Amino acid sequence: MAKNTRRILIEAAARARRQAVAPYSRFQVGAALLTRGGEIVTGANVESASYGLTCCAERVALFAALTQGKRDLIAVAVVARAPGGAMPCGACRQLLAEYAPGAKVWIADSRSLTKVRAFTVERLLPGAFKGVP
Ligand code: THU
Repeated sequence: MAKNTRRILIEAAARARRQAVAPYSRFQVGAALLTRGGEIVTGANVESASYGLTCCAERVALFAALTQGKRDLIAVAVVARAPGGAMPCGACRQLLAEYAPGAKVWIADSRSLTKVRAFTVERLLPGAFKGVP
């Protein structure tokens, strides 16, 4: 992976964050996925008046990538305005484990994009359920 790939993906997530639709929590999150071929697909969180229908930025980006036929996902960046950034929720971890199991996960605070915390999907959800045996 090129040296500046991480910066580019974090910046894409930061840009995507501006399109968040978060009138209830006002917590805006952006996510950007990278394919092996170098394509980037982004998403942001979308909230509902029926709060439980809210969809996280990670899942919005993941569903967009998958439905654009992009399956070979090697990294995901998540940017939010929170100390150290926001960690993906359990639901997003499950979907990442299913559809981007080998991906790197890069997390940053929107106020300091150069300070990135790095994880693997496996570390975020060890032993994930992968379907009925
Ligand atoms: N949220 C995300 O989009 N991604 C995360 O990693 C954490 C939480 C959203 C969901 C909701 O719109 C808002 O942040 C507050 O929970």
